[in-house]
Amino acid sequence: MKAAAKATSNIAFIKYWGKKDEALRIPANSSISMNLSNAYSITSVELSKNLKKDQVYLNSKKAEEDEYTRIVKHLDLIRALAKSNLFAKVKSRNSFPKGTGIASSASGFAALTLAATKAFKLNLSQKKLSILARLGSGSACRSIPPGFVEWVKGADSKTSYAKTLYPPSYWDILDIVAIVGESKKEISSTKGHSLTGTSPFFNKRIADLPQKIKDIKKALKFKDFTKLGTIIEEEALNMHAVMLTQRPPLIYFNSSSLSIIREIYEMRKKGIEAYFTLDAGPNVHIICKAPDAPKIKKILKNQKIVKKILVNKPGNGTEII
Ligand code: DP6
Repeated sequence: MKAAAKATSNIAFIKYWGKKDEALRIPANSSISMNLSNAYSITSVELSKNLKKDQVYLNSKKAEEDEYTRIVKHLDLIRALAKSNLFAKVKSRNSFPKGTGIASSASGFAALTLAATKAFKLNLSQKKLSILARLGSGSACRSIPPGFVEWVKGADSKTSYAKTLYPPSYWDILDIVAIVGESKKEISSTKGHSLTGTSPFFNKRIADLPQKIKDIKKALKFKDFTKLGTIIEEEALNMHAVMLTQRPPLIYFNSSSLSIIREIYEMRKKGIEAYFTLDAGPNVHIICKAPDAPKIKKILKNQKIVKKILVNKPGNGTEII
């Protein structure tokens, strides 16, 4: 009764920021993302009659209390579905530093959902896995299906899940992550979500999103990279405008993030078509076409503030390994 799964993280082109139902993680808006081939979690779940409680190891260390509680809560959901009272030993490792704006909760909860449901011998459809992963962490539902993904906000828990718009092979674009900070963020995105309503710009953002989603889907359909990148950048800044104007304000980026953004503007002047996006952390995600990657990597390598570079193709969905 052991299973292991690999899940890639994802980068949102249209962001999930704000929830309609906090407990069920039903979002205020639909979102669109791309899975990241090189940013992944591998998680194993082993059930045993000898365990008196769950054991959780993240990157070879015992999970901190808040992480432990959240993971046990997720296992409880799966135990209830499986009508089992067996405890589990969970081991998870990431290919990237957690809490830095590469969503470790996304890949972590997606991998945990698949590995644990398999260990408990539940055979769930992709849709059910996505719903279940969403209950662990909203963005995790987008890491279940492969490639370019839409999380349709839905009306309730049963209708809020993610599905593939296009498979990974559809478009040869990359997300090059410039890692400029590796420390864990002080205010979690879960806490941040709960205070979105305090921003005077939140309702306007939500009202404008349906049109933006239509536009980005069109850009994806026609592989219009300029349109796609322009929307991605505008959307990242729009979400950060909400973050910055929440109470308390959330400033997730830092001066290094801004230097990289300036650098991207310079790249565009030189004819390298690259666009940025940022999540709840300082690392800058650079969306570009595959042939431009060597030039972009070279520019980034010359920046002292860049600690690591992670190149991602459109990634697979969550899979048993
Ligand atoms: C800024 O999925 O981490 O990355 O549902 O509370 O776990 P919880 O939140 P989480 O929020 C991610 C927010 C974001 C934008 C995005 O990925 O869409």
